[in-house]
Amino acid sequence: MTKKPYYITTPIYYPSANLHIGHTYCTVNTDALARYKRLTGYDVYFLTGADEHGQKIERKAEAAGVTPQKYVDDIVEGFHRLWALLDISHDGFVRTTDDYHIACVQKVFKKLYEKGDIYKSSYKGMYCTPCESFWTETQLKESGGVCPDCGRPVEEVEEESYFLRVSKYAPRLIEYINEHPEFIQPASRAKEMLNNFLLPGLEDLCVSRSTFKWGVPVDFDDKHVIYVWFDAVLNYLSKLGYLSDDDEKFQKYWPADVHIVGKEIVRFHTIVWPIMLMALDLPLPKQVYGHGWLVLNGRKMGKSFGNVVDPVKLVERYGVDAIRYFLLSEFTFGQDGNFDNETLITRINSDLANDLGNLLSRTVAMIEKYFGGEVPAPVCPVPEEDDPVITAAKALAGKIEAAMNAIHPNEALGEIFRLIRISNKYIDVTAPWILAKDEAKRGRLGTVLYNLAESLRIVGVALQPFLTRTSPKLFAQLGIKDEALQSFASIADFGALSAGTRVEKGEALFPRIDLKKELEYLESLLPKPEEEKPAEEKPAEEKPAEPEKLPEISYDDFAKLDLRLAKVVACEEVRKSKKLLKCTLDLAGEERTVLSGIKNWYSPADLVGKTVVVVANLAPRVMAGIESRGMILCASDEGDVHLSALTTMSEMESGLKVR
Ligand code: ME8
Repeated sequence: MTKKPYYITTPIYYPSANLHIGHTYCTVNTDALARYKRLTGYDVYFLTGADEHGQKIERKAEAAGVTPQKYVDDIVEGFHRLWALLDISHDGFVRTTDDYHIACVQKVFKKLYEKGDIYKSSYKGMYCTPCESFWTETQLKESGGVCPDCGRPVEEVEEESYFLRVSKYAPRLIEYINEHPEFIQPASRAKEMLNNFLLPGLEDLCVSRSTFKWGVPVDFDDKHVIYVWFDAVLNYLSKLGYLSDDDEKFQKYWPADVHIVGKEIVRFHTIVWPIMLMALDLPLPKQVYGHGWLVLNGRKMGKSFGNVVDPVKLVERYGVDAIRYFLLSEFTFGQDGNFDNETLITRINSDLANDLGNLLSRTVAMIEKYFGGEVPAPVCPVPEEDDPVITAAKALAGKIEAAMNAIHPNEALGEIFRLIRISNKYIDVTAPWILAKDEAKRGRLGTVLYNLAESLRIVGVALQPFLTRTSPKLFAQLGIKDEALQSFASIADFGALSAGTRVEKGEALFPRIDLKKELEYLESLLPKPEEEKPAEEKPAEEKPAEPEKLPEISYDDFAKLDLRLAKVVACEEVRKSKKLLKCTLDLAGEERTVLSGIKNWYSPADLVGKTVVVVANLAPRVMAGIESRGMILCASDEGDVHLSALTTMSEMESGLKVR
């Protein structure tokens, strides 16, 4: 019988820096879904990859003094190592600099141009380079003038460009979304797309750039490179061979069953991408699932925010399965979740070391002690005691299926651990060590141990898509060699384990971790607060002499500074520091914390209510354990004897640009 195809994808990540735990979260969850589908009989194609073009990468490479290709090659190596470390079972890895991909993007662009769905015109708009997105006036008004996705400043860009006739297809897309409630999941994201983007009306999308070079060239007009998002989403087709001589995979796997993406890129996947597919007369993906973000102390973890957790360090210290378990179980996939070190260690200890590890070690130890290591036969049932375990085990397959089909891996794993906890409770209720004291109860003792071993076998089978290393260890200790007993189909078959199977005690599955010690270690991994040295400790000669006159810069250099007016709404002294004041600024509705070393000149009361000038796009910096997002401009004389913060001559609104 031919297997049913199942095509699942992750986003293709930007190789602008090494991947962090947020990317790992998405990929590990997608991997569990792919593995589950394989184990339940599907012909799965699981695709991931790297999105290598765009101005952001070009600038990073320039800053690093290497070619963009060299820059991405090095980082993509790291992607491969990370996915190997985490047992990611992808079937394909696409790079947008691969030849087949470039050819596919150029063919699609030309096809849509010839069809009239792409046309040339000129464009002026506000652009966010980190997100590679244009924003309309209305969208920027709502976000207070900064990028609605990442909160960073946008820049004005004017270009002669090619446009995709998004407006032509919008009514069809609205109808499609309304008629296919399963298309955008979770459902709240569909409402967001309709209300915030589609219903207010779409403008045609600018799909080429001529201000930089690092992209797929428009082959019939080489002044232009193709917009990185137009290029990127086509990975889902190019890797399948679409428009190439060998499109067997495309014929087999398209349309995709599900694109798993973070919530911030649902817009590209449910508006731009479907419209491109409609223009190509291709079916739309069956589902786009927008998962939530991992946040650290309330802020999205991000490469460019500098607050990332390194998955490699975590896996090296706690093992693949501990990290996979945490990422798969702790967070509700559709919602944001806070990444917290204490919860990580606590979950490893309580769920993996205690609940699962102890269940296995106690069961195997008791079978060895009371039955010489051979699984006894279940000859003496007591339904009121046995039923909770047997019923939960028999219901498990259905519950996992429902959770996985709804893209809720955390719920599926929750069900498996419910069976583990019920089985532990069963040990407490039946107290095998007391049964063992009475020869007349040997049959009952054997039945309890059989049920425990069988429950553990089912747990081992069910865990396979999630914990790649644990199931084989569990089967080895239970002596289960028969593949049929390890197959997913055998989950519902409680009683399939043969009496007489020889168990063999092994090492603890998950050693307990010392919480206090590990928290210290984990804290040491986070970016260090750059505690300032008190002024008196800084020898005068350490301060570099400022040149009298700085070299001339171009307007473009100046335009890189996002200078804004901001109102100081609150201010307090930073106790740990001799110089710093912590100012809370209002920047056109956005609240920002900015630290300023002006305690010697101002008290907090002097500043509250004042309008100041801030460098709004300065990279965040941690000082005295507090993150500062911007810098207040001040004028000062030699030796900083007199200092004054800059303000405006008349009352002006906060958020206005200073230029
Ligand atoms: O957006 N929490 O690439 P990207 C959870 N190249 N998931 C996170 C996360 C976090 N803190 N940070 C990142 C791009 N992710 C484009 C995609 S697809 C055709 C092009 C995950 O490197 C999440 O899945 O910025 C998010 O959508 C993705 O990484 C963005 O990765």
